[in-house]
Amino acid sequence: MSAPIVQPGIMDIAPYVAGESDLEGAARIIKLSSNESALGPSPDASSAFAAIAQTLHRYPDGDCAELRRAIAETFILDAAKIVCGSGSDEIISLICQAFAGPGDEVLYSEHGFLMYPISAKAVGATPVTAPETDLTTDVDALLAGVTDKTRIVFVANPNNPTGTYISASELERLRAGLRDDVLLVIDAAYAEYVSRDDYADGTALVEANDNVIMTRTFSKIYGLGGMRLGWGYMPPALADVLHRVRGPFNVSAAAQAAGAAAVRDTAFTDRVRSHNDKWLPWTRGRLIGLGLRVTDSVGNFVLVCFQGHPDHGAAAADAFLKGDGIIVRRMAGYGLPECLRITVGTEDEMRAVIDSLGRFLGKNE
Ligand SMILES: Cc1ncc(COP(=O)(O)O)c(C=O)c1O
Repeated sequence: MSAPIVQPGIMDIAPYVAGESDLEGAARIIKLSSNESALGPSPDASSAFAAIAQTLHRYPDGDCAELRRAIAETFILDAAKIVCGSGSDEIISLICQAFAGPGDEVLYSEHGFLMYPISAKAVGATPVTAPETDLTTDVDALLAGVTDKTRIVFVANPNNPTGTYISASELERLRAGLRDDVLLVIDAAYAEYVSRDDYADGTALVEANDNVIMTRTFSKIYGLGGMRLGWGYMPPALADVLHRVRGPFNVSAAAQAAGAAAVRDTAFTDRVRSHNDKWLPWTRGRLIGLGLRVTDSVGNFVLVCFQGHPDHGAAAADAFLKGDGIIVRRMAGYGLPECLRITVGTEDEMRAVIDSLGRFLGKNE
């Protein structure tokens, strides 16, 4: 019997497992498994989405002109260098499609975002990892991992799931150490949450080089994960390449309308950031107080590790949290089996997590 022949690499893909969202029998569910926004979408975005309902028969604007204008005005960027996609996942996948293929290597750091190896394998390329130091991207290790076959280097900054970041000068050192034919992709999905002085989202590196792309998303601080909307910022020659491979109407009209309204509602974005600025350190502090190891995350989530807690490992902690209706993310798929990733939710949700883990560890008074 013959069967359709699958392209090389595709059957090596371990399908992406999304954060769980349901627990049978739980009266109340607290979902902290996908780094969604604690405060939901901007009311302006919801109104813009509702307004589209009467014109669903119309194709969307294939150029995303108003959305690109809204992004460009908000971040003071050149709209011609923006390419929009159905989530930054699509931008990542288009980049791999356009710049890598069988025999090529796609390099990323050890605990980097899982869509990099998935998108690399989907085009027959070989994903290669470089070790991290202290759960943080290591520029020297990445540079040492470059071979003649390397075509793309992905760096999530800050990284998911570790939440750690490297400084603007370290990113610049990475770019300077790469050959000109190697594309550096800076995935800044969590950039809006970062307020450290030595952090940069990657815009300046895009402006200064012919081979750097920055990717961004509407799924995190803008609370539009359900819309599927992301964008990349890149030199015009690279934008021209991605426009050739993307679908002509790859971003829905609803996503474009909601995204433009969300990015213009800077007061709402500031509120979400302030919320995170309060509850991220609070959560980290309480977890450390429980004797757990927590990375210095600058995103809207924490990575908490249970090594050294015999009988109280990550699997048991996850099961205990689930018993309290709390869904977090197991990290075995990222090579961190003893860690859990917990999204920063509302005040009540974070207090519930800390209370639950305190009872799990027998540390509540
Ligand atoms: C580092 C990183 N990049 C990209 C994405 C994909 O985001 P999107 O929803 O825009 O596809 C995520 C989502 O979790 C992420 O954590």
